[in-house]
Amino acid sequence: MTAILTAEGLTYNYETSSGFVEALKGIDLSVFKGEHVAVIGSNGSGKSTLLKHFNALLVPKQGIVRVKGLDTHKNSNIARIRQICGMVFQNPDNQIVATTVEEDVAFGPENLALPSTEIKKRVIEAMETTDINFLAASPPHNLSGGQKQRVAIAGVLAMGSECLLLDEPTSLLDPRGKEDTMNLIKNLHKNAGITIMHITQSMEEAALADRIIVMNSGKVIYTGKPDEVLSKVEKMKEWHLEAPAMAVLAEKIREAGVNLPSGIIHMDELVESLCS
Ligand SMILES: Nc1ncnc2c1ncn2[C@@H]1O[C@H](COP(=O)(O)OP(=O)(O)O)[C@@H](O)[C@H]1O
Ligand SMILES: [Mg+2]
Repeated sequence: MTAILTAEGLTYNYETSSGFVEALKGIDLSVFKGEHVAVIGSNGSGKSTLLKHFNALLVPKQGIVRVKGLDTHKNSNIARIRQICGMVFQNPDNQIVATTVEEDVAFGPENLALPSTEIKKRVIEAMETTDINFLAASPPHNLSGGQKQRVAIAGVLAMGSECLLLDEPTSLLDPRGKEDTMNLIKNLHKNAGITIMHITQSMEEAALADRIIVMNSGKVIYTGKPDEVLSKVEKMKEWHLEAPAMAVLAEKIREAGVNLPSGIIHMDELVESLCS
């Protein structure tokens, strides 16, 4: 497996008027090409600060971050790093840069100084993949939250990014927008081989990843497969996170004396185990 994102001893502190805030305290981490990693952790645990390092929006105060081997400390690497790793944030309104959807999607590739035929091709492909062609001429600010996030993701795809960094992209969306966005993310992962690093507060969304990274107080405190991490009901409580309802229910049933296998996080698993 090839690592696309690596952090070695990554330490970061914010300087504020009242002193230093230690946001990341020596993170060692690799994300592999084609992987879908979810990052969970309570508020202020350092998730967003970590993600911004892989887009070179922040550079380590100590340690090294590399994107496809490129050190984020080197200014000459930054443009390439931002092309490899595109970032999508929580608030879709803050990401709109143009007056039509098509122009918005074209904004990134235009800055890469590509021939206009190539830009056009990429924009059309990205709008197809994200299912927003029918919105091409619409003003982005009129779209639903879910559609705006699809425009933002299309912009990243049009840059030719291999890796998508998502910082709670669904948290401000309605249920339909959340579902559409998650379907798109899964589709990009599965069918386009895009590497995904996804910060989420939703354990249902985290359950869809290949691997979960748990953060607490600026450190990675646990990493494992979703069923392994999310079924640790007591640990999740310690980490100030809420285990999925089915994991909690399975734990209660075990406590009542029924023998259930470990790692239950989905309803169908629980039903199957109870009925067999
Ligand atoms: N711009 C900033 N200035 C000062 N402190 C910050 C800034 N951004 C984040 N922090 C602090 O850094 C820590 C980690 O924040 P953050 O990475 O946003 O965590 P998370 O995304 O997990 O909620 C928190 O203590 C937060 O208050
Ligand atoms: Mg955050």
